[in-house]
Amino acid sequence: MASTVVVGGFFGDEGKGKIISYLAIKDNPGVIVRGGAGPNAGHTIRDDSGKVYKVRMLPSGFLNKNAKVMIGPGVVVDPNVLKKEIKDFGVEGRSFIDRHCGVIEESHLARDSRGELKEKIGSTGSGTGPANSDRAMRVLRLAKDLDSLSSMIVDVPEEINSALDADEDVLVEGTQGTFLSLWHGTYPFVTSKDVTASGICADVGLGPTKVDEVIAVFKSYVTRVGTGPLQNELSPEEAKRRGWSEFGTVTGRQRRAADFDFDLARRAIMLNGATQISITKLDVLFAECAGKTSYDELPAKARSFIEGIEERLGTPVTIIGTGPAINDVVDRRNTT
Ligand code: IMP
Ligand code: MG
Repeated sequence: MASTVVVGGFFGDEGKGKIISYLAIKDNPGVIVRGGAGPNAGHTIRDDSGKVYKVRMLPSGFLNKNAKVMIGPGVVVDPNVLKKEIKDFGVEGRSFIDRHCGVIEESHLARDSRGELKEKIGSTGSGTGPANSDRAMRVLRLAKDLDSLSSMIVDVPEEINSALDADEDVLVEGTQGTFLSLWHGTYPFVTSKDVTASGICADVGLGPTKVDEVIAVFKSYVTRVGTGPLQNELSPEEAKRRGWSEFGTVTGRQRRAADFDFDLARRAIMLNGATQISITKLDVLFAECAGKTSYDELPAKARSFIEGIEERLGTPVTIIGTGPAINDVVDRRNTT
């Protein structure tokens, strides 16, 4: 494995953060780099001691202390959120951003918390959309324009490509999910960027021929936060009865829920060119899976759910989440 790109297959909140932190520790890549929109993303990670981290700006792989963590030039950064996470999570000295990362300022936060974006689209209010809009208008300030960010700036595309040339592994993190893509999602109820694998690679400066593996992450059921279509949406009562009630990491809003959607998943595999599938929260569908780390220990009905996905999507399910801790994972990469 040289470069691995991890993306969300549904509407975000598939549990990418947990899968990425597992890969960051298990595979020990030299560089972990984040693409995607901006601090509208929210990843929840729980370390071995049970400590919970809610991450919006830093790559979710930061728990691997040997890795350099970077944010690619396609991402807009909120310097306040970024600096707080670096300090709170103790990632000083190995966190870097590209000089061309866009900068979110007060005006973007204000524009994102009222009007159409807030009311019709249900934006996260993080300033991400307005900042990307200013970037398209070529008026957004970039990281290189702010003295306060200067000590963190590196040439991210150069760093990741030279790491690959030196035979180091690079883990590329996507944010949001395929159907929140500005190009391929349920427009206008989408985020302000393309967030499929191609877009994520462009965000960090990784050319298409340099990608080795693309892992599409799907949760065992579908959730969506904010407005926009959701096929076969369950009532909040039914979602609660099934144990599928979830609340957003960034906004605290209740997520809407539906059964695993094979049509969406098939399209996500196509759009991302996925070579592997990761299924998260299998323990929420089948309680007996909780904390299991080997495939053989999973109950027959859980295995047939996984094998049904492989068959219908024609792609191997390699990494299965069985609980919130980083090592609550069945890793089948060497056995399939
Ligand atoms: P924005 O990206 O903040 O403009 O929000 C646009 C839409 O995308 C809203 O429906 C948000 O709830 C959704 N969204 C943006 N980022 C995420 C994410 O990381 N997870 C889930 N939904 C997201
Ligand atoms: Mg999230």
